[in-house]
Amino acid sequence: MIRHLLSAADLDAATATLVLDTAHEMALLADREVKKLPTLRGRTVVNLFYEDSTRTRISFEAAAKRLSADVINFSAKGSSVSKGESLKDTALTLQAMGADGVVVRHPASGAPHRLAHWVDGSVLNAGDGTHEHPTQALLDAYTMRSRLGRLEGLNVAIVGDVLHSRVARSNVLLLHTLGAKVTLVAPPTLLPVGVEAWPARTSYQLDSVLPDSDVVMMLRVQRERMDEAYFPSAREYSRRYGLDTARMRRLPEHAIVMHPGPMNRGMEITPEVADSVRSTIVEQVANGVSVRMAVLYLLLGGKV
Ligand code: NCD
Repeated sequence: MIRHLLSAADLDAATATLVLDTAHEMALLADREVKKLPTLRGRTVVNLFYEDSTRTRISFEAAAKRLSADVINFSAKGSSVSKGESLKDTALTLQAMGADGVVVRHPASGAPHRLAHWVDGSVLNAGDGTHEHPTQALLDAYTMRSRLGRLEGLNVAIVGDVLHSRVARSNVLLLHTLGAKVTLVAPPTLLPVGVEAWPARTSYQLDSVLPDSDVVMMLRVQRERMDEAYFPSAREYSRRYGLDTARMRRLPEHAIVMHPGPMNRGMEITPEVADSVRSTIVEQVANGVSVRMAVLYLLLGGKV
């Protein structure tokens, strides 16, 4: 039985598939006039966001509300208390309020793991530093499976700022578990130390990887996490690693283009590509709600 979702590695193939199948059931609900289930009535979900977020925060809130949970949104932005202290104090407060689920986003890698020691409820990692973002990986896998019909054997290229990307790490772990083959494409400066140990191939050449890719996932260049120059200029980066219409033509006919958002339009992806029929960017957001409903339902309902 899983109590927390801290890492994509917490999910074996059977559990991950159960989440995706349950998300599919939840998605059917979105087409109904009344989009609500009574499943989590009387339970409390706290959204604890220590870092900016649009999609993930709204998505978790919508998911919890559609399952009839009571939702408390806590935005810790601007807090001056030292991080370790404030997180523990906050945890004790949540504990006293009887939170059944705590959704946490934090700039420090590992913060959700610490929180899990201090609260009795389920902790769901909504992004910790440059470490992991397991529900993003689940919604990405869901999107690939619904567009391409399978995950097993798919070639997935994850392109760009892998170094700072919790999305990339969680995707590599989950996609490996589900039988897809991942190639990380980035300049050498934007690949993490120790990437050889990840279950993925690496390449510095986007153009040579595209013709064999079923999925190309573009990552945001995370300037807020950069304190030095990782590439000569934005223009040079786009020229080598950005996805534009000409490059998109190198992809097979059926291939899809993904991006977790928020996008730097014109940097890692051109507006034409982002808004093209191959792009699943808006779909990923919609799927995020279904996937997070599935995760909350399974974890808080004690189904996994
Ligand atoms: C990502 C994140 O916050 O890790 N966005 C998201 O959750 N949709 C990726 C990013 O910030 O670039």
